[in-house]
Amino acid sequence: MVEKELRVSKIKDGTVIDHITAGYALAVLRIIGLTGREGNIISILMNVPSQKLGKKDIVKVENRELKEDEVHKIALIAPNATINIIRNYEVVEKNKVKLPKIIKGVIKCANSTCITNSGEPVQPTFIVESVEPLKLRCHYCRIVMTREDIIKQF
Ligand code: CTP
Ligand code: ZN
Repeated sequence: MVEKELRVSKIKDGTVIDHITAGYALAVLRIIGLTGREGNIISILMNVPSQKLGKKDIVKVENRELKEDEVHKIALIAPNATINIIRNYEVVEKNKVKLPKIIKGVIKCANSTCITNSGEPVQPTFIVESVEPLKLRCHYCRIVMTREDIIKQF
């Protein structure tokens, strides 16, 4: 496709998080803890047209490559996201996000009486029972969390 101009230019080095569910770019940044106060350039595109998804969001983080645990977190918010590592303008790696089988210490249990919310030193831990639709079962109180429950926290 020939475009008159790119909405946001290509980046030299860093990470492009592509195919984010439309409207969830800010939740993606929040779940990986990027605030914008780190100093590197971050471009956020929301609701851009996409052949595959109709609409999508894109986040470009310059001079920063994501760690594996950050990619796992993104999968909780945007199950179709693609992580592109850019070096010297080239896409050198492209991976779909993937959830691990167990999620530990990332999200809180929605059950206020769960031991993980009682002030005890117990890390919230969830077992992934289903990816689409997302179902995470709390290892302690056994309630099931959905993607909507998770997104509310970010
Ligand atoms: N990109 C970028 N800077 C670069 C290279 C790529 O910002 N130096 C961006 C592109 O604009 C695109 C994403 O990274 O949003 C992936 O690039 P590429 O693999 O070239 O695009 P597609 O083939 O369209 O990707 P896909 O097949 O994953 O949709
Ligand atoms: Zn619980």
